[in-house]
Amino acid sequence: MLLNHISAIPIVEFRIDPWSHVMIKEYEKLFQYFGIRPFNEVVDDLKSVVTPHPLMVRGVIFGHRDFNNIVNALKNREKFAIVTGLMPSGKMHFGHKMLIDQIIYYQRLGAEIFLIVADIEAYSVRRINRKEAIEIALYDYIANYIALGLTKSNLHLYFQSNYHPKYYRLIQMISRKLTLAELRAAYGEDLEVGKIVSVITQIADILHPQLKDFGGFKDVLVPVGPDQDPHLRLTRDVAQRFEGELGLKPPASTYHRFMSGLDGGKMSSSRPESYIALDEDPQSASQKLMKAFTGGRATAEEQRRLGGEPEKCVVYEFYAYHLIPDDSELSKVYYECRSGSILCGECKLRACEMLVKFLLDHLTKREKAIDKVYDYVEVPDF
Ligand code: TRP
Ligand code: SF4
Repeated sequence: MLLNHISAIPIVEFRIDPWSHVMIKEYEKLFQYFGIRPFNEVVDDLKSVVTPHPLMVRGVIFGHRDFNNIVNALKNREKFAIVTGLMPSGKMHFGHKMLIDQIIYYQRLGAEIFLIVADIEAYSVRRINRKEAIEIALYDYIANYIALGLTKSNLHLYFQSNYHPKYYRLIQMISRKLTLAELRAAYGEDLEVGKIVSVITQIADILHPQLKDFGGFKDVLVPVGPDQDPHLRLTRDVAQRFEGELGLKPPASTYHRFMSGLDGGKMSSSRPESYIALDEDPQSASQKLMKAFTGGRATAEEQRRLGGEPEKCVVYEFYAYHLIPDDSELSKVYYECRSGSILCGECKLRACEMLVKFLLDHLTKREKAIDKVYDYVEVPDF
């Protein structure tokens, strides 16, 4: 039986909460219950048009909905848009970097980019004060985006609190298209007004690029972590409810694995031991990486005999997600680990060396980028 329709979801058994800190380990459930498709089924088709992003080939981007629409847009040289965002709360770390790397990839492919500073969500759900959210957004997140290579071409970078009037009109109109029962089914009984506002704001983030004033219909892709999928499912429903009225179509989406925390658990801005920030000083970054959980064995003897388990290793994640762009170089590390020919100590030292090199280079770029943030975004005045 197909379980990909919203009414068939066993909600009590498995619900994703975008605002909690739980790990979504059981990615298969997303396929089973929610109709997300494995990304590998579209990779070859994408390869026939463009070079896929390494995160796609490596299984880090593991799932999608309707990605075929985007491949077709690329094939037919039709315009398409990317919409995604981050909340300015806590430091921007390597877990967030994956998302911006994808944005930059699509920007280079010619996509129109809508990149959102989710300051209203940070205010209403995370209770971060306005001044702090604005400063974090400008001097940490946006400075990093620029340093990573985001350019102004085809870019709409905006704060949710400070955008075009028609975006706000759409938010108001979305209020008629959802029931409280649907929202409770998606987000639980302890629904707060702030969550509702954040959700309809996010739905408008995703749908507004199709409005006439923003260039009219185009395929839209939303790259996110799987925690955001409840928002996407609602957005798809809302799009259909606007089909006749505004001609909106459901967006496509992709889902990437979260990075593991350095201390086990999830990588989370609320625990500095769990992440490395993009502006972390190299010494503290190395210390954290040297202490990180690995897929190593209890003793050196055992590891030489059995080999390590890169699949369970945070250091390997750093290699695969960030530090080694070249596929053959990455598989060399993989086999050295698997065969037990390298031990974790030496492997970590290598990773640190690459990480420090990246950080030093990034810090220089960030310094230059900080002067440019005001060219990229209009800043809300309170
Ligand atoms: N909710 C997202 C987060 O928690 C941020 C966000 C806001 C977003 N608007 C969006 C993500 C639109 C994707 C698309 O980080
Ligand atoms: Fe991880 Fe490297 Fe140890 Fe393998 S050898 S488990 S990749 S740290």
